[in-house]
Amino acid sequence: MSYRQGGNFDRQGGYNSGFQQRGGDHRGDRGSDRNFGDRGGFRDNQGGRGGRGGFGGGRGGFGGGRGGDRMGELGGHLQKPNWDLDSLPRFEKNFYAEHLDVSNRSQKDIDDFRNKHEMSVYGTDIPKPIETFDEAGFPPYVLDQIKSQGFPTPTAIQCQGWPMALSGRDMIGIAATGSGKTLSYCLPGIVHINAQPALERGDGPIVLVLAPTRELAVQIQAECSKFGASSRIRNTCVYGGVPKGQQIRDLARGSEICIATPGRLIDMLEAGKTNLRRVTYLVLDEADRMLDMGFEPQIRKIIDQIRPDRQTLMWSATWPKEVQRLAHDFLNDYIQVTVGSLELAASHNITQVVEVVSEYDKRDRLLKHLATAMEHQDTKLLVFASTKRTCDDITKYLRDDGWPALAIHGDKQQQERDWVLNEFRTGRSPIMVATDVAARGIGKYFPPKFLVLLTFKFEF
Ligand SMILES: Nc1ncnc2c1ncn2[C@@H]1O[C@H](COP(=O)(O)OP(=O)(O)OP(=O)(O)O)[C@@H](O)[C@H]1O
Ligand SMILES: [Mg+2]
Repeated sequence: MSYRQGGNFDRQGGYNSGFQQRGGDHRGDRGSDRNFGDRGGFRDNQGGRGGRGGFGGGRGGFGGGRGGDRMGELGGHLQKPNWDLDSLPRFEKNFYAEHLDVSNRSQKDIDDFRNKHEMSVYGTDIPKPIETFDEAGFPPYVLDQIKSQGFPTPTAIQCQGWPMALSGRDMIGIAATGSGKTLSYCLPGIVHINAQPALERGDGPIVLVLAPTRELAVQIQAECSKFGASSRIRNTCVYGGVPKGQQIRDLARGSEICIATPGRLIDMLEAGKTNLRRVTYLVLDEADRMLDMGFEPQIRKIIDQIRPDRQTLMWSATWPKEVQRLAHDFLNDYIQVTVGSLELAASHNITQVVEVVSEYDKRDRLLKHLATAMEHQDTKLLVFASTKRTCDDITKYLRDDGWPALAIHGDKQQQERDWVLNEFRTGRSPIMVATDVAARGIGKYFPPKFLVLLTFKFEF
């Protein structure tokens, strides 16, 4: 049954009136819009405007906006300390003792394991990967927590990342989203903290995790709380868009772990609410996204405040030039593990059809593909257009022809974008026409099985 026959689309209801009539919808669904935004670019605006929901926020569409531009001046009052390594208290960062079973594996075993998990490593003296939780060498208070989660085995990034991180080396871990990177650095961080002298009054954190968004910071905090509880490790989350009072009180109380978005942390540092003198384990999570969002100047200012012989760990789902540059500037003799390909590969589950057609034939071809795709009841169809105007033109054309299409692009108000997305997500309007600002991360929220993408590259 096609949509047109089904008659469940009100052809008369114009796009705008549809939006206005149902304008309340987007509010009820704030939570899920945020989730969408979490991958698509929802971010914490440390300028004090974060947390307003929707992806992109601020200017320029999804994931758009430049977090850093507004914050260029932030941190201007922070002086880079002159570090005299000889006078700094010594600290321990190598906690790794290789398990006997791991030592007994031959180089061929190791190579086979790495190949099987599409793992490549870079650097000198890289520890062998572990294959089970027991082999990681975590103390019982951490191991018990892992086992209570019921995870069957460590993920690939954990197998290689844990020995690297536990050995105190600067490191980079690249692995796809959802591959378990958070625990890859959280658990070694907990071991690190437990080997350091207790915090004294006025001390800042020992482990600092920088993350791009408030949502992510909160997720990381949840993992730290779960796994740090058994050794009474306290944590604080510091992010923009909410009042500072509670965060200031948490910092004053003392926390071994601080998870922060860059702008708010700089605010806190400038106001003297915390300091990074005790930080010896620094994590940059989602480094690629932090740079995409323009946080580089803030990150550099923050790192200047941390003693240079710290251990630095960088985690990212991709490995673009900018991230490599940052790694080069701030990591020392680092070792790296990459799980999977560095290139964004086309998924094997997707059939790709490329048709080159003349301007004249475009509409017909679009309608033909559309009719075929919409025969499946749950189809969601996303049409990409190169410009905002084309996006609106195609939408109008489809709607005039009776198709339930809505447009989304950077010129639309945030509320309208939230509403359109929600209509698409729930299937009430299964065709969405978008500019490519909507491209990143969209698959996560719309099951690919029924997602059809049509790309219009040229003017319509
Ligand atoms: N060994 C494991 N086995 C099964 N699940 C795991 C394991 N380790 C972590 N997880 C779970 O997998 C989920 C995703 O992990 P995590 O958020 O760390 O991924 P990520 O690699 O950081 O992804 P992203 O790039 O999206 O941040 C979490 O819910 C986590 O609890
Ligand atoms: Mg992560």
